[in-house]
Amino acid sequence: MNSDAERPFVVLGAGQIGALVAQKLTARGEPVKVVRRSSGGDLSDFMFAQKAAAGARAIIHCAVPPYHQWLTQLEPLNAGVLHAAKTSKAPLIVLDNLYGYGKPTAPLTETSPVNPCSRKGELRARIAEQQLDAHRRGDARVAIARASDFYGPNVTLAATFGERFLGRVVKGQSGECFGDPTLPHSYSYAGDVADGLITLALESERSVGEVWHLPVAQTESTESIVKRFGRALGFAKELQTNTIPSLVLRVMALFVPAVKELLEMRYQWQLPFVLDDSKFRSSFGAKAKATSLDDGVAATVAWLKASRPAAPLRR
Ligand SMILES: NC(=O)c1ccc[n+]([C@@H]2O[C@H](COP(=O)([O-])OP(=O)(O)OC[C@H]3O[C@@H](n4cnc5c(N)ncnc54)[C@H](OP(=O)(O)O)[C@@H]3O)[C@@H](O)[C@H]2O)c1
Repeated sequence: MNSDAERPFVVLGAGQIGALVAQKLTARGEPVKVVRRSSGGDLSDFMFAQKAAAGARAIIHCAVPPYHQWLTQLEPLNAGVLHAAKTSKAPLIVLDNLYGYGKPTAPLTETSPVNPCSRKGELRARIAEQQLDAHRRGDARVAIARASDFYGPNVTLAATFGERFLGRVVKGQSGECFGDPTLPHSYSYAGDVADGLITLALESERSVGEVWHLPVAQTESTESIVKRFGRALGFAKELQTNTIPSLVLRVMALFVPAVKELLEMRYQWQLPFVLDDSKFRSSFGAKAKATSLDDGVAATVAWLKASRPAAPLRR
């Protein structure tokens, strides 16, 4: 068998986070193998998944089907990934979200009750339980890493700070929120999510068998982050944030499958939604870096300006 340093980190998915994880590992001089559907592999195929992960130093799982196909594709995909972890014996670091917790009554910690209140939350909770159960039985070594809604450079698939927001904000248009924009809501910076996954993979002796909340900046309200974008773009007037009326959302849901899927997730913006990352911070010290909202918004705006140079950036 090759030495640890020669065995590749196998990154599943090359989307918003998988691509960033691969890029950061490569920059550190680590060997990386990236697996994605469009380059000819389907991880729900057990034989393909097994071959893809054979010889891995660690598997970092950032693969996910399109949002409107979760109910049919998410479980088969994760069954394939778990099979890959069992057969390769490599530690599996799974990127998960917060849907399984349901409606929080306090800041979310790793010991918050799993109490999903949506179909997608039930699905994610069931998959996480299957992964942890495989670990408990000694069939695989699994760590689950959870993050809140993403924002950051290259992030377009995100509920609040995704493609629609980016297209509006460069024109100086208001932000939009699925609930009350004045409530605190944690947003995870994509770079921190990638760094956190890498730490859990490098420290797998310590991380497996547990759930981890990835490093996140101090929580503010959605409207306050929208204002930060306006300031970073140099707008003289503060950007406002409107609540998207239910009726408008329901009409949009008729035409946009992802919006239809978001309807059941609106509760996240109808109560304080705060992610507590103190376990990660106290366990990994200096490696538990969370990018400040100042720096994260500045980097996102720099990317936005560079990637959409034709857009009118002042109003
Ligand atoms: N978006 C958010 O705000 C957010 C917040 C917290 C957690 N998360 C979670 O973070 C994880 C990563 O999300 P992301 O935004 O980075 O995903 P993404 O950009 O949608 O990328 C998904 C990747 O998975 C690959 N894929 C899908 N089905 C596959 C299959 N059957 N076999 C092989 N590869 C497959 C895709 O391949 P192709 O590129 O070839 O299509 C793509 O590279 C997901 O579990 C997501 O739910 C997301």
